[in-house]
Amino acid sequence: MTIAEQQPFMRVRGLTKKFGGTIVLRDVDLDIWAGEVVGIAGHNGAGKSTLIKVLTGAIQPDKGEILLDGHSVKIRNRAQSEHLGFGVVDQQERLLPNLSVVENVWLGHPYPRKVYRAIDWSAMEQQILARAMELGISFPLRARGGDLLPMDQRLVEITRALLRKRRLVIFDEATSALEAQEVERFHAVLRLLKDQGVAIVLISHQLDELLKISDRLVVMREGSVVADDRVTAYDKPRLFDLVAGISWDQAMAGLQPGGRDHPSEGDVHLEIDGLTGSVLREVSFQVRQGEILGLAGLEGSGKEEVLAVLSGLERACGGTLRMDGHERPFARDVREAKRMGLALLPRDRKVAGLFGRQGLCFNMTASHLWKHRLKSWLPLVNHGSQQFYTKNTVNRLQIYGAGSDQPVDNLSGGNQQKVMFGRVIGLGPRVLLLDEPTEGIDVSARAEVFRVVRELAEQGTSVVYSANDAEELSLICTRVLVFHGGRVVAELRGGEINDARILRLTYEEQGPREYSA
Ligand SMILES: Nc1ncnc2c1ncn2[C@@H]1O[C@H](COP(=O)(O)OP(=O)(O)OP(=O)(O)O)[C@@H](O)[C@H]1O
Ligand SMILES: [Mg+2]
Repeated sequence: MTIAEQQPFMRVRGLTKKFGGTIVLRDVDLDIWAGEVVGIAGHNGAGKSTLIKVLTGAIQPDKGEILLDGHSVKIRNRAQSEHLGFGVVDQQERLLPNLSVVENVWLGHPYPRKVYRAIDWSAMEQQILARAMELGISFPLRARGGDLLPMDQRLVEITRALLRKRRLVIFDEATSALEAQEVERFHAVLRLLKDQGVAIVLISHQLDELLKISDRLVVMREGSVVADDRVTAYDKPRLFDLVAGISWDQAMAGLQPGGRDHPSEGDVHLEIDGLTGSVLREVSFQVRQGEILGLAGLEGSGKEEVLAVLSGLERACGGTLRMDGHERPFARDVREAKRMGLALLPRDRKVAGLFGRQGLCFNMTASHLWKHRLKSWLPLVNHGSQQFYTKNTVNRLQIYGAGSDQPVDNLSGGNQQKVMFGRVIGLGPRVLLLDEPTEGIDVSARAEVFRVVRELAEQGTSVVYSANDAEELSLICTRVLVFHGGRVVAELRGGEINDARILRLTYEEQGPREYSA
């Protein structure tokens, strides 16, 4: 029997949800067939995660119903949703850092017991291992959640969602933290589930991924479904247009892949010599004024440690740092780094920076309040100036769905990322350190992020840009360093930069990842 002949096992009808005065979901209909991959695309704040939250019972809709095998169901909480056979990898939920991987996977489920009710840890481990092996993924079991690389945390979350038998599995931006090879492995997992008749919903900002892996594609805009069709009805420009509301050419104007001219002139802003840390081994490089230096490499290759040491989050074991030709000690904390002119956009924005209950304006200007003083000698905040900056940045980065006083916790995942980006660029540092700056950001805002970074570089800021996505590095960087095993193994400049070459160099010397735990 083909998919077309079957009935959808799940139907969502007329789902509507309001938060305060804003309509977040408008009369949303969605049918899901068994064994089908449904991709969902849409700009930041389009309502994708809200739709999923209705299916997991995290929020209740104002109107509409969910029919499962023809029967109307009410989903009041996560347990009920799981009971119906839904598994979710959430966009914002993360592993609990102090629990072990096993405890994280088992969270919310009764532990298996041995005699005298002793917890059967080995049975738990065995089940996880068996499932992970079936799915073809692996991660360390005994480490603490917080000690895992972001990528392995994702793999654990995926295993958690799939540990039990499911009818429908939803991945809300599950691939955004993964490397190219892991994405391939994840796609293999999807195909495996599909063959078993499991339905899959995949939310992603990677249009190529959606076009490659989905059977059907749904596009959401401002709370409504604006397109729902077989994947063959789309091509990239059409999909881009539907998501962004502007054409691909318009958005990418002036941004050509293949690297940019590398400024060989210009003052050296930052110079690192023989930097050694927990992973790094004698790393040396310079960053010139106006340069956008890309850091490529697998997770754990050392590229993230470069940013951590420069921004004062981690201590270096050895090496020297020169800023504008003057030797300086490495910063002992983030504040000291900022004073030296080094500012970081951290990878984990949620943990490392947003004041969730505070408004947009507060969050956007929190680290550069001194720039918004009433008078230079008067330590009072000029709200007008704060709001001016916020409004400009909101427009520029297309931050949807928030007044300046609404708590940023209420913003969608991607819009929160944009707020952090807006705050860091507002600092106007001499050296801007960016860790995965476009993670979770929709396609049109992504092009804007590139434009902002390029503009800052043209105005004389030096940028260090770390990303897993080779194409992204090739679009924006003037030079790329490829890391492996704590060392720089290759350097590409200007016209030498292309994504295929970066990927090849990244994977060429790949060895097993190591954990101290
Ligand atoms: N608790 C809440 N109170 C008020 N508004 C909310 C709340 N939760 C979500 N919203 C709003 O609902 C809208 C949709 O958010 P949602 O998280 O569904 O977007 P999304 O499509 O998943 O975006 P992203 O791609 O950034 O993840 C946003 O404008 C957000 O500000
Ligand atoms: Mg979302």
